[in-house]
This record gives sequence, C-alpha cells and structure tokens, in this order.
Amino acid sequence: MVTRLRNTADEWRSLVNDMVSRGAQGSQSDIDNVVLYLSTNFGPAKGAAPSFTQAPAPSAPTQTAPAIALSPSAIANAKRVIAQNGCVACHRVGDEGSYIGPNLDDVGTRRKADEIRAAIVAPQPQVQPENRQVRLVQHDGKTIVGKILNQDGYSVQMVDATGKLATYSKSGLREFSIIDTNPMPSFGNKITGQDLDDLVRYLSSLAEPGK
Ligand code: HEC
Repeated sequence: MVTRLRNTADEWRSLVNDMVSRGAQGSQSDIDNVVLYLSTNFGPAKGAAPSFTQAPAPSAPTQTAPAIALSPSAIANAKRVIAQNGCVACHRVGDEGSYIGPNLDDVGTRRKADEIRAAIVAPQPQVQPENRQVRLVQHDGKTIVGKILNQDGYSVQMVDATGKLATYSKSGLREFSIIDTNPMPSFGNKITGQDLDDLVRYLSSLAEPGK
C-alpha cells in the first residue's frame, strides 16, 4: 500500500531547521520524517509522488550502518576455496587472474548475494553480451581467443586471457566467430555448505579493485 505524505516540503524543511537549531538528534519519528523529506526531494525518487514505500529504511544518525560481519577466518576460507577451485584461471581476484570472465574485485557492487551464488552453482549456459569471447583465425592458421574491447568495420581490438591488448585487421582473418557459451562450469557439487556461504559473502563484500 502506498501512503501519501500529507505534509508539504516546506513543513519538512522547517522540521529539519528546527532540529538543527536545537542541536538535537531528534526522536526516531523526527528522523524518519527527515529521511522521507530528504529522500523525496534529494533522493532517487525526486519528482515522483512521495510515498513511504519509496523511502529507504530510516536510520538514526547515532546508529552505525549494519556492516556485513565477515570474520578473518571466513575471508581466509573463501580465499582458500577460490585458490583450490582455480577461479583465477578465468577471473581477476586481487592482483592475479585472467580476463576471460568478469573481474571479481568489484562484483559486490554489481551483483546481489543470490546472483553471485547462482553464478557459482548454476551458471547460465550463455554468457552476458559483455562477457562474450571471440575466436579469430588468421590466414596463416593462427587462432586467437579473447574478448572484444572494440571493433569497427576494419579491425577488432582484443584483450586475451593474460590481459594483453592487440588489434587485428579483419581483412587478415579467415574466420571471426563469437563464442557466447559460458565456459564456467557449475561448482554446485564441489563448493557446498560453509565453503559456499563464506565464498558468496566474501565476493559480495568485494567492492573495489585491488581489495
Ligand atoms: C573456465 C572459466 C571460469 C572459471 C574456472 C570460473 N569462472 Fe566464474 N565466470 C566465468 C565467465 C565467462 C563468467 C561470465 C558469465 C556470464 O556472463 O553470465 C563468470 C561469471 C562469474 C560470476 C558472476 C560475475 C558477474 O559479474 O556477473 C561469479 C560470481 C563467478 N563467475 C565466480 C566464480 C568463482 C567463485 C569461480 C571459482 C570457484 C569461478 N567463477 C570460476 C568464467 C569462469
């Protein structure tokens, strides 16, 4: 159900000013109102009809954000699982790995925990368009497999699994085919229980390159 705000923006504004002049934290409901005011006027829902359902969950400024508690042993376990299962044969994690699959260093910003879990236990048979690889066969028979960074009518720029960039002229190629099958095997039988939980939570926590 969508509950419409009855107060005008000016009323919310004076409530904020009031709180600032009191120097007080305000009651939970004051803070709720401020959050709603801010989210309505400055949040992503700007311009949309204000509603309680669009507002983010209010939180008091004195509370710290609920952090995902990931113990050092869970992190160590996740790293062990990654090492033992050869994930870096296809992914970058930290300073190592390959460029066949997406970089996992910021996967937590792109994917929810459920999506990460699903990618590991039940990979889609076909990759997302941005993860497609191409196979090039040159006239001399040399085959190159990598990801396309860029292409135009004449040339194609590739990054291979080792991260090396190269540009190939299309006229020098005998074959040019897109590979959209997903090379990632399912790890559903190999990574289970606590190992899977630690892995998913660790990957979900990765938000920056090099972390
Ligand atoms: C043989 C190559 C290969 C191996 C080995 C591999 N992956 Fe992948 N992985 C891929 C590819 C390619 C994709 C992109 C799939 C797509 O586009 O749907 C992917 C996708 C993912 C995703 C989703 C990422 C995103 O941004 O959507 C996660 C998470 C993931 N892999 C984790 C792992 C983990 C953990 C391991 C080791 C247990 C692993 N992968 C091993 C190739 C691999």
